[in-house]
Amino acid sequence: MPLDPALRCSTVPLSNGLQIPVLGLGTSHAGGYSHDAIVYALTECGVRHIDTAKRYGCEEKLGQAVKESGIPRSELWLTNKLWPEEYGYTAAKKACLDSCSRMGVEYFDLYLMHWPDSLRPGCSNREVRAETWRALEELYKEGVCRSIGVSNFLIPHLEQLQEDCSVVPHVNQVEYHPFQQPNKLIDYCRHKGIVFEGYSPLAKGQVLSNPTVLQIAGKYKRTPAQICIRWSIQNGVVTIPKSTKKTRIQENCQAFGFQLEEADMLALGELHDGRHVSWDPTNVE
Ligand SMILES: NC(=O)c1ccc[n+]([C@@H]2O[C@H](COP(=O)([O-])OP(=O)(O)OC[C@H]3O[C@@H](n4cnc5c(N)ncnc54)[C@H](OP(=O)(O)O)[C@@H]3O)[C@@H](O)[C@H]2O)c1
Repeated sequence: MPLDPALRCSTVPLSNGLQIPVLGLGTSHAGGYSHDAIVYALTECGVRHIDTAKRYGCEEKLGQAVKESGIPRSELWLTNKLWPEEYGYTAAKKACLDSCSRMGVEYFDLYLMHWPDSLRPGCSNREVRAETWRALEELYKEGVCRSIGVSNFLIPHLEQLQEDCSVVPHVNQVEYHPFQQPNKLIDYCRHKGIVFEGYSPLAKGQVLSNPTVLQIAGKYKRTPAQICIRWSIQNGVVTIPKSTKKTRIQENCQAFGFQLEEADMLALGELHDGRHVSWDPTNVE
């Protein structure tokens, strides 16, 4: 299939004026890593947005893949995440610079606090989050991170951060697929100017055999994965499906150039059953 030019120019504006590509490529450790697939995504599919994390353990390899692709750094959107073991002001600043050096880049386009729990028994999560966020605010002001955000934060976590700190997160990255639609959180984020980014858009594959998704896929002559990705995009949600297979990456990038009708959007909207396929931050204080 030819490259879809819409992939390159479909972006969502952040509150600081940056434009995040609405479709990116996930790289989590589950299911492994494929160097060839990343290079293929960049060179053959037009992917310009890659989501990673120190936790995924592939920063060096990704850096090599980006270099091999020959795509100029300025044309890429690279998101990385800070793991709670490195929360706290000093540790967070060092962790970000170490991640940059492992990936061989000078800056990240987006740097996220990965999880709202500090994973430190006896410590106040709220205080650790605020101290860590102050480090991210500085990294932002220094230009090491062009935007900063959080991941898996719920409304109370966001409200506390706003009381304790000055920069409102540019992005909140949260699980989002037809079975998991945190619509109150999405409304809250939009009201506060925080871009909502969805992870696990295919519910790690679980949603691809759902009868409603299959029926809609048949109607549009698209695949179930394309329907789910299109649904996220039409809902204005930045989305980062992962695949280690070239053909599937190509398939997942073909989510432009067609429009789901309102009735189909509503039918997908009704599939929410509250299940999490990743982790659930509900009980994190
Ligand atoms: N912030 C967080 O806490 C957090 C948590 C989870 C995920 N994430 C991010 O979000 C990204 C995506 O989420 P995810 O990896 O959990 O799940 P996902 O993207 O919903 O699903 C990935 C799974 O679907 C399969 N797949 C991909 N495309 C397919 C297609 N077209 N047809 C059939 N199967 C397909 C993949 O297998 P193959 O590789 O075999 O194709 C893989 O098993 C992650 O990689 C990561 O970057 C962030």
